[in-house]
Amino acid sequence: MSVPYRIGQRVYLRPLEKSDINKRYLAWINDSEIGKFLEVNLFPTTKNELLDYYKQIKRNRTNLIFAIVTKDKNRHIGNIKLGDINYIHRYADLGIMIGEKDFLGKGYGREAVLLLLDYAFNRLNLNKVILAVYSNHKIAIKCYSRIGFKIEGRIKDLLYFQGKYVDKVLMGISRSEFNKLYK
Ligand SMILES: CC(C)(COP(=O)(O)OP(=O)(O)OC[C@H]1O[C@@H](n2cnc3c(N)ncnc32)[C@H](O)[C@@H]1OP(=O)(O)O)[C@@H](O)C(=O)NCCC(=O)NCCS
Repeated sequence: MSVPYRIGQRVYLRPLEKSDINKRYLAWINDSEIGKFLEVNLFPTTKNELLDYYKQIKRNRTNLIFAIVTKDKNRHIGNIKLGDINYIHRYADLGIMIGEKDFLGKGYGREAVLLLLDYAFNRLNLNKVILAVYSNHKIAIKCYSRIGFKIEGRIKDLLYFQGKYVDKVLMGISRSEFNKLYK
């Protein structure tokens, strides 16, 4: 059984385990509402495919994935990942999914991102964390902006979303920006 790795006020992060590759996680990524801004939702995912993905991630240290769990009831509400970690240039991609609908838009995403950024910058010594988001994903852009991410790029009309094309927005935060805000 894995134990908390990074602890916040209402949630903690722990390593994602093989036993987390279950119906709950499958339901999150296959859900048309939760997954509407996620590439993984474009095609149906099976349990075996998810297991393959999990094994691939665990093979090396370039992708680190954590379960987001509530402290009060130990409820696994989503996952968060530092992906494609580049140990030369010292940057990584951030990906997050709050999968339990009751927990969306209530600050849990913010708290999990802050825990992961502190780990990325002040433990792994990364210098920059970036992410990409659909330009019409208002909750996500608000969440990331309030944390301190800045919009650093935009690719026009790149992503197809429900009958129209929207921009791909690139956001980033550096270690010095993060530490100026939170340390
Ligand atoms: C994107 C995501 C991680 C954000 O986490 P979250 O816990 O829902 O977001 P937070 O509550 O921390 O922050 C969202 C902000 O948007 C606000 N918000 C909530 N609903 C909103 C809406 N419909 N429109 C605009 N803003 C909204 C919240 O009030 C909050 O702002 P505040 O801090 O000023 O109060 C989460 O919604 C999620 O996992 N969604 C599904 C998967 C996904 O899209 N992942 C991200 C792909 S880039």
